[in-house]
Amino acid sequence: MKRIICKNYDEVSLLGTDILAKQIKQNPKIKMVLATGSTPVGMYKKLVEMHKKNGLNFSGVRTFNLDEYYPIKKSNDQSYDFFMRDNLFSHINIKPENIHLPNGESADPEKECADYEKMLAQAGGVDIQVLGIGVNGHIGFNEPENELKLATHLTNLTKNTIEVNSRFFKNIKDVPTKALTMGMGTIMKAKSILLLISGENKAPVVKKLFSGVVTTDVPASFLNFHNDVTVILDERAASLL
Ligand code: GLP
Repeated sequence: MKRIICKNYDEVSLLGTDILAKQIKQNPKIKMVLATGSTPVGMYKKLVEMHKKNGLNFSGVRTFNLDEYYPIKKSNDQSYDFFMRDNLFSHINIKPENIHLPNGESADPEKECADYEKMLAQAGGVDIQVLGIGVNGHIGFNEPENELKLATHLTNLTKNTIEVNSRFFKNIKDVPTKALTMGMGTIMKAKSILLLISGENKAPVVKKLFSGVVTTDVPASFLNFHNDVTVILDERAASLL
């Protein structure tokens, strides 16, 4: 894994933006997987700026999101559907038909996951996958467990993830206990992966990521098997390396 250590969060966001913008210009029909959470917010903000000021063109770009809470209404301001519209999609010229997220409103989550996986396969593979990492090493919502799943699936969130993500909700009881997430295999199929990490609370997991050990206790450690991963992290996240 290639690792680039930046001074701070702003530089992480800027470098991530540069990499994505360059790829969009080179391949206007690029297929990207996008992530949520607080980490990519700065990068999405800068991409919006590049669209508004420099005409970065998203009209041919196709996006697929990594995960979504389950069950959750798209209108809920904590849904990833809402997050993506709020932080990116409403501010750029992406075509609505080119936006894909797992549907947290689906009555049949198993079918929704199977359909999402099929749709990704039909799209012919993604060019770049943006990822963040949980403090417990999760990617998407692939939580530390004895076994990791390959395909998109319905999963239970760990107590730790519910607690960590409760900061975005009014009450911890409002945090959904399940999610739909791309599987480890779905993630690893991307041609290239861009992992953004910021903050000292991520330093222990960053240390595990680069420890030379792969374990289902740290799902992100499996990224060590992929041959095109760029990890952009700030000095605080890298402080235990
Ligand atoms: C969330 C998401 C992940 C995200 C991670 C880290 O629960 N499911 O896709 O990468 O947690 O979030 P943050 O960037 O806010 O630390």
